[in-house]
Amino acid sequence: MEETENLRKTFADLYGTPGNEPVLFFAPGRVNLIGEHTDYNGGFVLPCAIQYGTYLLIRMTDERVIKLASVNDPQKTVIPVTDHFSKQPVHWFNYPLGVFEQFIKKGLPVGGMELLFYGDIPNNAGLSSSASIEVVTAFALNHLINGGLDLLDLIKMSQKAEQEFAGVNCGIMDQFAVGMGKANHAIFLNCSTLEYKLVPVPLSGYKLIIANSNKPRSLADSKYNERVAECQLAVAFLAERFSISKLGDLGFPQFFKAQDCIPDEVIRKRARHVISENQRVLASVSSLLKNDLPQFGVLMNASHDSLRDNYEVTGFELDTLVEEAWKIPGVLGSRMTGAGFGGCTVSLVREDVIADFIEEVGMEYKAKTGLTADFYIAEIGDGVRRVE
Ligand code: GLA
Repeated sequence: MEETENLRKTFADLYGTPGNEPVLFFAPGRVNLIGEHTDYNGGFVLPCAIQYGTYLLIRMTDERVIKLASVNDPQKTVIPVTDHFSKQPVHWFNYPLGVFEQFIKKGLPVGGMELLFYGDIPNNAGLSSSASIEVVTAFALNHLINGGLDLLDLIKMSQKAEQEFAGVNCGIMDQFAVGMGKANHAIFLNCSTLEYKLVPVPLSGYKLIIANSNKPRSLADSKYNERVAECQLAVAFLAERFSISKLGDLGFPQFFKAQDCIPDEVIRKRARHVISENQRVLASVSSLLKNDLPQFGVLMNASHDSLRDNYEVTGFELDTLVEEAWKIPGVLGSRMTGAGFGGCTVSLVREDVIADFIEEVGMEYKAKTGLTADFYIAEIGDGVRRVE
């Protein structure tokens, strides 16, 4: 493959050729089909891994330094091997360093190494480019040092890296999807127990189209953490009535009857989203298992409505992309995907209207927001792996 040959060449130019042959790994990005902002509430999610992702070429060295570089960014760094890494001003350096920190916490050796990343996931678009970097780093290091960690350990460590080093109180969905993805399947994950099932996605005649709003997401992390805190507040009110410790513990009928015990309308809406979204994930799994794509599309649309009205994480740009998608005949469903506040939408589009979809949605979006959207046809791919 031409890309990987180029990567090997760049590696050799950058680090020279002495020592071991570097080893190549890949972790995908993910698109979440439904189940948004439910993971940190112990709810259900239904993401899948996509064909875009992060390559990592890596080799261990005898030097006491870690060298980080990426084809996507001219900034490089050399960091001494230590037992505690400090946060770096170049944001992406923190993802691998956060992972190394987790290895050290487990008493595993983190020695000298040379790393070169290359990613083809649009950055900061809500397709988990950060989880992809974390998981590929964890998987590669575990492999090279014979760390003996299983994939679930690596996924949990990658989530911790994001929380502690990147400062986002994220759930486990992204790292889980990036680690456990399987071609043509979605991952139906219970984020409370981490039990999961692979659900075939019967796309016959349809494609998943991702539209990147290209809206800058500057305050997204702090707004995300604000939603996490609002959900904790909702739990505190509801726990006076029910014995629950997270919103995912409560069914919608129980919540519906008791919702007035949350005095604040905003907090009540946040809980309404999470608890109703959980039901939609369950209904989506049954629809997919019955091959009922139209019903799944209806649930996608309802998810977007709730993210807009109850959770308030969509914004004008994502709403415009979704509303324009809904107008195109042959589109079964469309919704924002990921954390929101910008980022991407995912739409279920009949193959023969894809070209019209991209043209019309793109044109209307540009006219209404002044921004140019990018479109990607998503293939559902496998999770993290070594590339031979
Ligand atoms: C981000 C987080 C995930 C999840 C989604 C919203 O992608 O990293 O853990 O909370 O937002 O569903």
